[in-house]
Amino acid sequence: MKSWPAIDFGHTSYDAAFTRGDVYGVVPDAERAKRRPLTVAVAGAGGVAQAKWIPAIRHLQTKGEPVAVTAIADPRAEVAEKAAALAGSAAFADVAAMLDARRPDILLVLATDAAHVPIATQAIELGIPCLIEKPLARNFTEATDLVRNAEQAGVLLASVANKRFSPPYAMAKALIEAGALKSTPSVFTGKFTLGYPYVDLLEGGTVHLLDLVQWFMGPVSKLHARGIRCDDGGLLSAVVSFAFASGAIGSLTTSAAAMSFKPWERVEIIGRNAFLVVDDQIETTLYDDETGPAKSWRPVVPNTLMFDEAFGGYAGLLENVLDAVRGLAPLATPAKDGAAAVGLIEAIRRSLAEDRDVDIAAEGLAP
Ligand SMILES: NC(=O)c1ccc[n+]([C@@H]2O[C@H](COP(=O)([O-])OP(=O)(O)OC[C@H]3O[C@@H](n4cnc5c(N)ncnc54)[C@H](O)[C@@H]3O)[C@@H](O)[C@H]2O)c1
Repeated sequence: MKSWPAIDFGHTSYDAAFTRGDVYGVVPDAERAKRRPLTVAVAGAGGVAQAKWIPAIRHLQTKGEPVAVTAIADPRAEVAEKAAALAGSAAFADVAAMLDARRPDILLVLATDAAHVPIATQAIELGIPCLIEKPLARNFTEATDLVRNAEQAGVLLASVANKRFSPPYAMAKALIEAGALKSTPSVFTGKFTLGYPYVDLLEGGTVHLLDLVQWFMGPVSKLHARGIRCDDGGLLSAVVSFAFASGAIGSLTTSAAAMSFKPWERVEIIGRNAFLVVDDQIETTLYDDETGPAKSWRPVVPNTLMFDEAFGGYAGLLENVLDAVRGLAPLATPAKDGAAAVGLIEAIRRSLAEDRDVDIAAEGLAP
């Protein structure tokens, strides 16, 4: 491999720092300013809306993106009002009333999991594109029905797969596409652990890796899962083995018996006499030479960027969805991919319950 992929790894770009003297990346950007201005409405104003998405919108606005938050809806009045004040927009108690009053160009569906499908369905009926938080739906049938409704109505539907836009994972993908593994990926190993018990291990956390696994490796054809249950019957830990349609194989270990504030995520992908590792969504390392050095990338901390909005992948994902609504870029995270991750969750649950291989296509679990 002769040239390295041009991934912004969270640092101020060379051009901004050394040519433009614009280390914060705030100098007006004439090209960006010419894009069609879009209004965004937000459904659900809790943790992820306030801590991730409103800052991601601010990050894009700071870089000159013509986007504005028009309204925020949440049935918890004080939460809606606080978030609306943060975003400089209007507060509503009800999503339908908000959509009627404001007709946004795009709706961010950031509400509780169970509200994703009903809220997105209302928006699709009005022809309003949506970006929907993970998990796309609570089960595979609802997920695929939603995707089909949107396709029939011709409405753009995106699913949150923010890790794809996080530089260490974007770097891994770009390295693979540039042939750094010297073959197509042949083996995937993933680890995801957390310590807090209040989220569902598969839908709340592992779903991120269930998106990444198919993004890196292509469709899963079969899987088999083994698990350990908590006293209340919930899933405590699971190990999943995958066969991919490409002929590659893989495994994923996920556990709620570990800790949340310690290393919790690792992806390893083997090609042929070369492999790469993404550790805790912070560092990507390529091992492609028995005797030469490993090549690794990680951000300098602190740097001058507003960190999590860009590094967490939220701003990059949102920027892509805005451009997809404008017709300027292909949508990188179609809702169909969110449905595919929900399909894997369903397959893992079946495999755990019945201790058997689940054939994804034969059991209708591929969207
Ligand atoms: N991408 C990520 O890494 C990430 C991180 C955290 C959460 N999430 C997802 O984001 C979503 C929200 O998570 P959170 O942590 O902000 O939860 P939260 O409980 O803090 O907030 C959810 C909000 O949705 C509101 N809500 C419920 N029903 C609604 C409805 N019908 N209309 C409008 N609002 C409604 C609730 O009142 C609450 O304020 C979840 O689906 C979660 O899985 C994703």
